[in-house]
Amino acid sequence: MRHPARIAVFASGGGSNLQALFDCFNDASSPVARVELVVASRPGIGAIARAESAGVPTTTVDPASMPPAMAAAELIRALEWSAIDLIVLAGYLKLVPGEVVDRYAERIVNIHPALLPAFGGPGMYGLRVHRAVLDSGATVSGATVHRVGARYDEGPIVAQWPVPVLMGDTPESLAARVLRVEHLLLPAAVEALVMGRGAVELPDEIIFDLTHAAVPELDSVRRLLR
Ligand code: GRF
Repeated sequence: MRHPARIAVFASGGGSNLQALFDCFNDASSPVARVELVVASRPGIGAIARAESAGVPTTTVDPASMPPAMAAAELIRALEWSAIDLIVLAGYLKLVPGEVVDRYAERIVNIHPALLPAFGGPGMYGLRVHRAVLDSGATVSGATVHRVGARYDEGPIVAQWPVPVLMGDTPESLAARVLRVEHLLLPAAVEALVMGRGAVELPDEIIFDLTHAAVPELDSVRRLLR
């Protein structure tokens, strides 16, 4: 993949993971990658406002509002116009049309707020994921970056980061803890893919912290992942 790789981010919501990519790549003038296009699944979402602040073009395509072939054609046109190398689904709630997945095979990743293959699949998004984790009695959750296949939340795993479930957690508190980790894992996984590394190796320090149920210190972890 060329450097800096040209990234398209697909988003459906607030775009905090998109912001993490802007911070890591665009704002730092990274030689590795740059977000060049934001594809929103509906108008008015926070991700569009973040893209506008970052000076990155946006396009809105709602696959639910048009025939699948038309959505695929619109997406492919936008991706090719921006000469995109890698697609990152960051809080994207729609199924990517099969034609797009085929065209960008091996070059689409998604971030999911749980340790796949557990707690993934249709209907597993947002707080529902974290509610299901708590209901199951699991003591560990986490974040997963995986390559995208034809079905929701399936495809080879690129990177995972475990996050402890703490006593008294609510879906909201667990979501917030996982989200902090997502903001580190996603840029690290994108960097690994662009650099041709198959997966992200997590430093022992993170796993050690986990055994003490500690929330990772973000600045120190950021240094460890570099
Ligand atoms: C994140 O947990 C992401 O994994 C999920 O949606 C949440 C919010 O994402 N799919 P963002 O703030 O829009 O990036």
